[in-house]
Amino acid sequence: MLVLGIETSCDETAAAVVRDGRDIVSSVIASQIETHKRFGGVVPEIASREHLDKIVPVVTEAFTRAGIQPEDIDGIAVTVGPGLVGSLLVGVSYAKAMAFALKKPLVGVNHIEGHVYSVAFENPPVEYPALALVVSGGHTNLFFIPEPGKYKIIARTRDDAAGEAFDKVAKMVGLGYPGGPIIERLAREGNPKAVKFSVPRMGDGSPDFSFSGLKTAVTKHVRETGLEPVTNGEEPSQAIKDLAASFQSTVVRSLVGTTERVAKDYGPKTLIVAGGVACNGALKAASSEAAERLGIPAYFPSPHLSTDNAAMIAAAGTAKLQAGERAGFDLNADVTLRLQNLDNVDEELRRAKVRYRL
Ligand code: KG4
Ligand code: ZN
Repeated sequence: MLVLGIETSCDETAAAVVRDGRDIVSSVIASQIETHKRFGGVVPEIASREHLDKIVPVVTEAFTRAGIQPEDIDGIAVTVGPGLVGSLLVGVSYAKAMAFALKKPLVGVNHIEGHVYSVAFENPPVEYPALALVVSGGHTNLFFIPEPGKYKIIARTRDDAAGEAFDKVAKMVGLGYPGGPIIERLAREGNPKAVKFSVPRMGDGSPDFSFSGLKTAVTKHVRETGLEPVTNGEEPSQAIKDLAASFQSTVVRSLVGTTERVAKDYGPKTLIVAGGVACNGALKAASSEAAERLGIPAYFPSPHLSTDNAAMIAAAGTAKLQAGERAGFDLNADVTLRLQNLDNVDEELRRAKVRYRL
């Protein structure tokens, strides 16, 4: 089954052709990072206009690189949310028009579910039940997945997303955008124990994450130590490298600590770590160690599949198309779309335990 995936939820215009949900035949990503860099973040109005400019060339290029004609595909999968409304609408409208013109089945995909499927290409098939940590610039969620397509949110961020925290801290000390990769690079030369930040925990015992307190602690540290921000791209000081290492290790401890505690309760057979922040080497190392202690494999997407791409949307869409799901031409963008379709997780867990003889 050949599926065309289209992704325009934020600042990447992407299209991909995927075979049977596992092989990437082509994947094209037009990033707008250069455009938004000077504003220190994504400007929604500019993003939607760039998607409009790029959607046709990007989809055309995906077909050219795949060496196929549009008529050769078996279906179209498009991101419907969550994301920026103007950006999402470009992809959704284009996908609907294509599905209508080509008379091909169409499905809408939740962007976060797409990230979960980003591990489908380079790893053995996921064994269920699985636990998935999705960490990106817009989301920080921990899902229990008893079987494909069923999701229960176990923990989410109460304020900033993990990637957003990386971006904001980087901006605070004069580093560029996006902040994650820059902080990771500087952290390699810094001491993670130099600045003591505490790992945020919810007072009510919930496993939820919170990163805004950490951001405030970084602001306080910068003010109290008189730390000079980097100007004009000069080499960052050792104090900034130490701050980067200490901040990163606190975020990693929070994410992995919670994931491991939750995994002990839910007994997953696979740990998935996905989303832009899954590019982070320290997060990967700590998650792999946790998975080893739990006796399960940890799957990560490689960096080009961690950040936004359309191959992951095509993979998630393939599962939906194979399950018989079809969207009508009333398919619409849903800015605040959530990924949760399991209410009674205990019952699902009991059934999964019976089914998989856990
Ligand atoms: O998944 P993604 O491309 O977009 C969203 O859906 O949000 O994630 C982008 C986020 C940015 O916040 C970026 O700083 C972060 O992922 N990121 C990283 C790394 N590479 C990208 N964070 C930490 N370490 C990295 N190496
Ligand atoms: Zn994303």
